Amino acid sequence: MTDPDLDKAYALQTPDDNRKLYADWADSYDTGFAKDMDYQLPRLVALVLAEVYQGPGPVLDLGAGTGLIADHMLMRGTMAIDALDISPQMLATAASKGHYRQMIEADLTKRLDISDATYDAVVSSGTFTHGHVGPDALDEVIRIARPGATFVLTINAEHFEARGFAAKFEQLAPRIADVEHRQVNIYGGKASDEHRDDKAHIAIFRKRYSVPPLT
Ligand SMILES: C[S@@+](CC[C@H](N)C(=O)[O-])C[C@H]1O[C@@H](n2cnc3c(N)ncnc32)[C@H](O)[C@@H]1O
Repeated sequence: MTDPDLDKAYALQTPDDNRKLYADWADSYDTGFAKDMDYQLPRLVALVLAEVYQGPGPVLDLGAGTGLIADHMLMRGTMAIDALDISPQMLATAASKGHYRQMIEADLTKRLDISDATYDAVVSSGTFTHGHVGPDALDEVIRIARPGATFVLTINAEHFEARGFAAKFEQLAPRIADVEHRQVNIYGGKASDEHRDDKAHIAIFRKRYSVPPLT
C-alpha cells in the first residue's frame, strides 16, 4: 500500500479501517506527518491542561497514538498518565517513550472495560475527527471520569459541525459544567498544503459532582 497520510486518515470509515491505517503509520507518524505538517494540537492540549489541571492524575489520553501529548506535558513526571488507543502499533511507539503508566488497547466506539470514576483528567488530540471517533463516545468517557474530573479534548471543527457535537454538548449539560470551546489552528506555519487553515475546537469542561444516570 502507499504511505498513510492525512487524506487517507480523514477518509476512514470504521474502527477496523483505523486499526489497519495506523498499523502502517506508527513508525513514521512523528517524523513524517507531525513534523511535516507542523502539527500543533498535542502541544496545545498539553498547554491547556497545565492551565486548568495540576493534580497527580490519573490522566487518560484518548486515541493517544504515538504519545505526542505526553511528549509536550511539562508536568508528566508528577502525573500518572494512561494511553488508550485502538492501534497496538501506535501504542507500542508511545510506550517506547516511557511517559505512560499503562497502555490500554480499546475501541472508543464501544463500551470500555474501565470502571466508573477512574480518571481525574481526560485529554485527547486528533481523535475526534473525520473518519475516527464521533460524539457518542463522550458518554463512556464521562462515565469513567471521576466527579469533578477535567477534560481537554480537541474536536476537528468540520467534524464538530458534521457530526452534531453541538447537540451532544447540549445533551450532556446535566452531566458536565464550566464548558469552554477555544478555536485553534490544527497545523502551524510550516504546513504547506490545503490543510494549512484547518481548525479544531479545544473543548474544556468538568464532570459535575452529581450526575444523573444515563437513560
Ligand atoms: C490522528 S491520530 C492522533 C494521535 C495523537 N493523539 C496525536 O495527536 O498525535 C488518531 C488516533 O486515534 C486512534 N483511533 C482511531 N479510532 C479509534 C477508536 N475507535 N478507538 C480508539 N482509538 C482510535 C488511532 O489509532 C490514532 O492513534
